Amino acid sequence: MKFDVIDTQPKEILLADYAAYPFAIDTIALTFKLSPAETIVTSKLSCRRLGQASTVLELNGGPYMSLLSLHMDGVLLEAEKDYDLSEEHLRVYNAPKSFELTVVTSINPQENTRLEGLYLSSGNFCTQCEAEGFRHITYYPDRPDVLSVFSVRIEALMEDYPVLLSNGNPAGAGEIAGGYHYAIWNDPHPKPAYLFALVAGNLACLTDKFHTSLGRDVTLNIYTLEKDQAKCDYAMGALKRSMQWDEETYGLAYDLDVYNIVAVSDFNMGAMENKGLNVFNTKYVLASPDTETDTDFAHVEGVIGHEYFHNWTGNRVTCRDWFQLSLKEGLTVYRDQEFSSDMGSRVIKRIDDVKALRAAQFPEDAGPFAHPVRPEKYIEINNFYTATVYNKGAEVIRMMATIIGQAAFRKGMDLYFERHDGSAVTCEDFVQAMEDASGFDLRQFRLWYSQAGTPEIKVDVKKGQGSKTILSVSQTVPSTPGQDMKKPMVIPIVMGFATEHGDCLSAQGLSSNIRPLGNGSFLLMMTQGADEFTFEGVEPTAVPSLLRGFSAPVEMETTLSELQQYFILNFDTDSFNRVEMSDLLLKKEVYKIAEQIEASQTKTVSNKLIKSLGQCLEAYERDPALISSILSMPSENDCISSMKRLSIDAVFEARQFLGKKIAHRLRKSLQSVYLSSRSAAKSLSLKGDKQAVHFRRLQNVCLSYMAKTGGHAENRLIVDQFQDSTTMTNKLAALQALVHSSIGKRKQLIRHFYKAYRKDELVVDKWFAAQALSTHENVHSEIALLQNHRDFSYTNPNRIRSLIGMFTMGNLSAFHRRCGKGYEILANAILKLDDINPQVAARMLTPLGRYHKLDKERQVLIGKQLKRILAKEGLSKPVYEMASKAYE
Ligand code: ARG
Ligand code: ZN
Repeated sequence: MKFDVIDTQPKEILLADYAAYPFAIDTIALTFKLSPAETIVTSKLSCRRLGQASTVLELNGGPYMSLLSLHMDGVLLEAEKDYDLSEEHLRVYNAPKSFELTVVTSINPQENTRLEGLYLSSGNFCTQCEAEGFRHITYYPDRPDVLSVFSVRIEALMEDYPVLLSNGNPAGAGEIAGGYHYAIWNDPHPKPAYLFALVAGNLACLTDKFHTSLGRDVTLNIYTLEKDQAKCDYAMGALKRSMQWDEETYGLAYDLDVYNIVAVSDFNMGAMENKGLNVFNTKYVLASPDTETDTDFAHVEGVIGHEYFHNWTGNRVTCRDWFQLSLKEGLTVYRDQEFSSDMGSRVIKRIDDVKALRAAQFPEDAGPFAHPVRPEKYIEINNFYTATVYNKGAEVIRMMATIIGQAAFRKGMDLYFERHDGSAVTCEDFVQAMEDASGFDLRQFRLWYSQAGTPEIKVDVKKGQGSKTILSVSQTVPSTPGQDMKKPMVIPIVMGFATEHGDCLSAQGLSSNIRPLGNGSFLLMMTQGADEFTFEGVEPTAVPSLLRGFSAPVEMETTLSELQQYFILNFDTDSFNRVEMSDLLLKKEVYKIAEQIEASQTKTVSNKLIKSLGQCLEAYERDPALISSILSMPSENDCISSMKRLSIDAVFEARQFLGKKIAHRLRKSLQSVYLSSRSAAKSLSLKGDKQAVHFRRLQNVCLSYMAKTGGHAENRLIVDQFQDSTTMTNKLAALQALVHSSIGKRKQLIRHFYKAYRKDELVVDKWFAAQALSTHENVHSEIALLQNHRDFSYTNPNRIRSLIGMFTMGNLSAFHRRCGKGYEILANAILKLDDINPQVAARMLTPLGRYHKLDKERQVLIGKQLKRILAKEGLSKPVYEMASKAYE
């Protein structure tokens, strides 16, 4: 592709170009003299040339820092003669075999709105160095395969910054003249620079302790602004559960005397696993029932776990280069998902994770941003912290565990740590450990790391001679940017035969590509373009229940009849597949109605579908969370990602129509289940029973349907819930219902919510987000008003995500309005953000790459906005990469 607007195309970094760093940096001693407008950083590196390597020491740097001085073994170096300085590098010439280099730089944290490197949040200093932020603090080999032992001395005004933190263990503190004080931190574990962290400020602290299985007493601290201290208990509990779980599940114990967590309001991502000093977005630490929802609590537990688990999968064993990002992220997501499953309901966790995968990763894999789990090139690595690397990466790990079995997987993990503790390795090293520990041949399986695209499988169920059942399965992997031809993948398909009285246990005579799993389920190992799986002795009425637990991240089509599909919905022992089936049946119904719309026919809704949903609803008591998932409407995003040929206008209209119809036809049951789950939730929560969460989930799914009726009684219940609820879960669900409604007091109540919570940033985020999801006709002007609200800000990523992110990724029918205003709103925001925070600006561009299901007119409108973005003078590298890929 060519652009007259960009004269120098940013350079692509290639995996194929990897070369080891020619020097070792054995230790680095850092001193920070902190001040908001000018912080002075002194870095002493002990360097060693490796072998006969080059005598030029090349360090990374950036445009936001000034070099004050450079000494080698105490001798001042001279520019041009001894070293060269460019915008991105410092090259030191004539490096001897070993030497000490002292680099002094000056930086301005106060002006750092990019939120990478050292910056200020609520007046406190903090850092974000992954992936390449350390180079904005000092000149250094800022790459994950250079590991060094860090020691840090921090100096700052005592009154403004009483708390001084860095990685590792505390090693001294004291006062210095002029109202200053200092603290020293030593981290004995060699680490790459991306794991460096520093925090200084006025922070309150919640303290606890944990005794490890190796006999170490660890102090646990969670630092926040004083006002947020009361909301940290849940996170602290989650941290202790994580520590315990990793010891029990993988035999992995913590390895320092302190574990510090700091929560900040201004953060580009979710959280960061810096060694011994995690820095978190407040969103993933603070949790109190009156201001955070049940979903927020689940996220806090998951992210606390995630960052803790990185201590082994990421820190003790790290990545050789950034192409290997999934080595730590895919594996750590898998670990946090397993942790959450063990702490709560496994099947509900799986349902929610698969939903998230479909919402974010499937569309990514199907569009211009598609890339393999292990990418082969990038312009800006921050653009590759994606659902593919994280969530599909986790699915790849899960498939390996399914294929080799849990016991072998654990052996593989042990071997991985035995071989690689303390080093920077590749995805290949991980698979090799799994292969060696299990004896399985994973050669073909490795394609999951190199081939992008979501495989599509078709399952044809046939009855053979006698009692033979044959499943013919074929696969295709769609082409993706830069990858036209694909090879067949290894696809593990877990399945069983559902009957009215449980799984059919009489299957035998299995073909050699089938492995019984012992619980009524089988593992079908697909390895070719087309495979056949044969069984004998299956009960004639049994229905194949396929891809149980979503055993592989694929799109599946089957030849199951509608009768059989309803059978799975009603009788499968695998609850996950019951939810899958209701989702499929609901989507099919949406498409049928959309076709009627396109053909200008009368819209009809299947009685059978309504009746089945009604029956599920009536039987809610046994598993309210499951029923809530069975009942949930597929999202707009889901509906358009799996649609074929139809127009999005018809699909959105059909979806709305179906939702309303369900609400009206099941009106009585919805109201009565609403009332009984509401009271069940209330009484359980008084008893401190965790089941309350499941009843609240059902209660609020009912509420969202009830809102669609616009009925008087329903509106009354919405307003009551809004006014009476004591939990944010219920309050927010009512707010969301209110936003869409035409209830008279609507505006007034929304304003009331703001007034009540305006001091709580995270709740104000929810207030913005709820309105960004509005289905009202004038939503575009509502968004414009909100962008001018005094609490809206382009410098706070959470706020951007709440308003712009929600509108463009969660409210597709409003975003994709024919007028193109939605695209314009987004492009304007990206152009503004590009100067403030390019990393977040690039992330916001995602929806502009999801046009493959849109009509020509909309594609043209999106193209126009992409062109505008690309024409911006001085466009940042991250936004350039995303916009140019989307523009194709
Ligand atoms: N490693 C962090 C995690 O736990 C993510 C940090 C990414 N930050 C960034 N700016 N790319 O997943
Ligand atoms: Zn991570």
